Amino acid sequence: MKIGVPKEIKNNENRVALTPAGTAELIKCGHEVYVQTTAGIGSGFSDETYLTAGAKLLPTIEEVYAIAEMIIKVKEPIEPEYGLIKKGQILYTYFHFASSEVLTQAMIEREAVCLAYETVELSDHSLPLLIPMSEVAGRMSVQEGAKYLEKTYGGYGVLLGGVPGVTPAKVLIIGGGIVGTEAAKMAAGLGADVTIMDVNLKRLRYLDDIMPANVKTMMSNEFNIREMIQSHSLIIGAVLIPGAKAPKLITRDMLSTMRPGTVMVDVAVDQGGCFETTKPTTHDHPNFVIDEVIHYCVANMPGAVPRTSTLALTNATLSNAIQLANKGWRKACQDNLPLRKGLNVVEGKIVYKEVAEAFELPYVPVETVL
Ligand SMILES: NC(=O)c1ccc[n+]([C@@H]2O[C@H](COP(=O)([O-])OP(=O)(O)OC[C@H]3O[C@@H](n4cnc5c(N)ncnc54)[C@H](O)[C@@H]3O)[C@@H](O)[C@H]2O)c1
Repeated sequence: MKIGVPKEIKNNENRVALTPAGTAELIKCGHEVYVQTTAGIGSGFSDETYLTAGAKLLPTIEEVYAIAEMIIKVKEPIEPEYGLIKKGQILYTYFHFASSEVLTQAMIEREAVCLAYETVELSDHSLPLLIPMSEVAGRMSVQEGAKYLEKTYGGYGVLLGGVPGVTPAKVLIIGGGIVGTEAAKMAAGLGADVTIMDVNLKRLRYLDDIMPANVKTMMSNEFNIREMIQSHSLIIGAVLIPGAKAPKLITRDMLSTMRPGTVMVDVAVDQGGCFETTKPTTHDHPNFVIDEVIHYCVANMPGAVPRTSTLALTNATLSNAIQLANKGWRKACQDNLPLRKGLNVVEGKIVYKEVAEAFELPYVPVETVL
């Protein structure tokens, strides 16, 4: 199969969908890989490394779309790309269709085969192509929080791990899923005094078993949150209620009970945020202050570390890409149930129920297109 890897054109997107290592794997299986020149630069992969891996370089995005039977991307196509997409072309990328009717209509019109990373789903309902970005954001949340706790950034002026003779800083993590667990590991590794809160007792039991001694668990409820925020220097919001907006667990009135210079990192900002005062921010202007409490609410945290994020993402996406290339999308999706869940729009039809419902458009069960 001819596989195309265009350079991402969405603002500030430095990830690339295929690494030179992934390129070599696909070529080993007998496929041809066409990479747009400089596509990997933002993630630290030069054109030469792709050439060495066996890829062919193409100078323009138009040429990549024109030659490819399957396009592998990171972000959803944006308006200048719509016209380049061909009938029957496989698009394997993040789409987040339910948040854009324009994108959904465009993909219907282009009659492409759209496989969305975010809806590939395992039998335990986990989302294997979203997990890597939660891992990155969770680990980053502590790195960013530690930075903003420094006095020069307006923080409380504490070192997370303390030093001999000085107690460590207290870190509160609300939500003990992927983000929360990775955040806890990082904060614990730095020597902080960490508490993870969740509403799922089974999850708290598991975390209590696996975490080091400087991580404690606590049931998440308003009473406990009100008490804990008064003494914690770094608070990380990491909750998720699938398919719903995040609950506002820290309300505006609670800020005045915190110490000046407390840092709140709301990783759940992409679902509306779990702090009432959260507003989405960007890497250019990541933070703002309300009632002397520093808020960090960047909606695409992994964007700050594109090399790590690219490697993490492609580790998760490559095996499906190989199956799609080896078998074609239809056979690959017949054989692989989790991958089948990734089909959202196929040759002009919406085959993912929630996307059709979001815009009251006709829905066709995925089995009918296989
Ligand atoms: N900002 C970014 O760049 C970025 C990157 C990746 C993920 N995210 C977001 O981070 C959030 C967390 O993602 P995840 O992968 O860890 O999700 P997850 O499903 O693995 O974990 C969410 C956890 O929140 C818990 N929870 C639900 N309600 C709660 C409550 N009231 N109090 C405490 N805990 C509660 C759940 O029991 C679950 O354990 C999501 O909104 C996700 O979209 C943001």
